Amino acid sequence: MQHFIVIGNPINHSKSPEIHAAFADSVNLPISYQRQFCPNDADSFVAVVNAFFAGGGVGANVTLPFKQIAFDWVKSHGKLSPYAAAAGAVNTLMLVDGKPYGDNTDGRGLVADLLAQNIALSGKQVAIVGAGGATRGAILPILDAGCQLSIYNRTKAKAENLIHALGCDTVRAGSLDELKCADKFDIIINATSATTTGQTLDLGDCRADFAYDMMYGKPSAFLAHFARQGATTSDGYGMLIHQAKLAFEQWTGKTLDLSQVNLAKPS
Ligand code: ATR
Repeated sequence: MQHFIVIGNPINHSKSPEIHAAFADSVNLPISYQRQFCPNDADSFVAVVNAFFAGGGVGANVTLPFKQIAFDWVKSHGKLSPYAAAAGAVNTLMLVDGKPYGDNTDGRGLVADLLAQNIALSGKQVAIVGAGGATRGAILPILDAGCQLSIYNRTKAKAENLIHALGCDTVRAGSLDELKCADKFDIIINATSATTTGQTLDLGDCRADFAYDMMYGKPSAFLAHFARQGATTSDGYGMLIHQAKLAFEQWTGKTLDLSQVNLAKPS
């Protein structure tokens, strides 16, 4: 039996145990995957992670508010994947040669979900709205997929700083006012926290062929805006599944076929 956890605060809402149990079932692998609450400070996080791995744990997912703390810990005690290094955040932990290895599968999960929905990416004009942690994690995988990327943020300077910090000269930054009058995008992605907080972004006449909201489980005014214009839309549930798939495959060495995974999307 292999043991896994997801560490967060709060943690009761996490869907990861059900998702990974369904993955394990699909490949007949006996696992245990538990929710792990942790007090919101770095010392507690490190103590929890060390105890987990000392006890033979195989892999840990990291969720809010610990992704940056996990990044700092792995940076000083182990090795980061290029995606975690670019994201400045770790969502997937394991031991490699006895040392912590930290990855970030969120952005690759997004790209994998888009490709699974038959959304072509190479050479496409992609806009991300928002310049926080969710955007930061998505930039490298989106560029890897061959997209032309623009980042629009309420605070334009934050988008500019992010692009500068990552050294991505080809990525453009814009304000939300610039977004409103931009040319039609092939793909637009909401990476702001507006859907979670129930806020509506002022999108003006912004148009896109395909609109994606990284959030799921709540009505999205962002997706409604683009749906009214006839765009195809998607919430972020598939991103959740695909980031989990990438973690599971890395931990277990198994390859998942999602068509064999018995998992109902929560309503
Ligand atoms: P996360 O780590 O989930 O990305 P974050 O770092 O708090 O969260 O970033 C939230 C993002 O949503 C920011 O880009 C924020 O814009 P600002 O940088 O200007 O604060 C954006 N955001 C949140 N609420 C918004 C709103 N009502 N309108 C526009 N942008 C919003």
